[in-house]
Amino acid sequence: MKSIASAPGKVILFGEHFVVYGVKAILGSIDKRVTVTSSTSPEESITIKSTLGNLTIPISEPYEDNSPLKPFAFIAKKMIREFDKKSGLEITIKSDLLPGIGLGSSSACCVAAAASISNLFTKLSKEEVRKLATDAEKTIFKNTSGADCTVCTYGGIIEYDKKSGFKQLTTNSDFSLVIANSMTPHSTDVVANKVKEFREENPQVFSSLCNDESKLIAKVNSSLSKNNLNQLGQIMSENQNYLEKIGVANDKLRSMIRIAKETSFGAKITGAGGGGCIIALVDKSNSEQTISNLKSNNIECFSVKIDSKGLIQELIEE
Ligand code: PMV
Repeated sequence: MKSIASAPGKVILFGEHFVVYGVKAILGSIDKRVTVTSSTSPEESITIKSTLGNLTIPISEPYEDNSPLKPFAFIAKKMIREFDKKSGLEITIKSDLLPGIGLGSSSACCVAAAASISNLFTKLSKEEVRKLATDAEKTIFKNTSGADCTVCTYGGIIEYDKKSGFKQLTTNSDFSLVIANSMTPHSTDVVANKVKEFREENPQVFSSLCNDESKLIAKVNSSLSKNNLNQLGQIMSENQNYLEKIGVANDKLRSMIRIAKETSFGAKITGAGGGGCIIALVDKSNSEQTISNLKSNNIECFSVKIDSKGLIQELIEE
């Protein structure tokens, strides 16, 4: 039996970092995917193959290492423990997404792995897959808001908050996003800890930024449904000002945003910042020009659309 699952990467359109402290965020899944293929094996071991490296661990011993493959070992061990203590597993991860640049590679991997591995043992609902993936992601990023795994599971555009969960947003907008890569990988954990320190040292400033961010995000839904890309772009650029204030920007990201803003509707960091990517809001009228300006400044970039499918899975009898 072979179990295949794929999940989309994501961008955070609005609200990264503030979402960790209870503010709403808006995320979109993108048309770049991670695919995980799993099968049971007669060996008493779990083998994981991915571009991040390979790992083989015995099924009987606890796995304590801090490898980036830890979330997948966590899912595999949990399934084996709960359903079939003797089953070995072979897991292969293939990704369209580079890791560590804020495009949800880790969350998409966790969602696709949770669905692919669990489907060999039992049929989980999407919500159960989302929860399992979030628990797996917590093995490498303890304080995740859970927003990333949610959008990678359900797809489309979602509004997310830690307390009340998520809502899928409908949009009449036909926009694309240009994603530009600073080529500096970041650790979400490290950048999120810097924000935590900023908040501890500046509680009032941070709390007032959370209020401003909430007010900003309240305007997004109406701009999306009216297809008002000028307004949506302005909201993006305003969101970037708040990200500047909490110290997650740097010169490279700033310069990319400045260039992208010359031709797009608006631009901002997406994800944790400190490196990683920026997004610029575009449509047919300005997409090519934005890409060409960035490229002529030696900035690696590409365009994506919002994915509407979310998690896809199939089980193949062999
Ligand atoms: O891992 P990234 O770069 O997609 O960023 C995660 C977004 C944060 O808001 C910083 C953390 C979170 O869990 O929401």
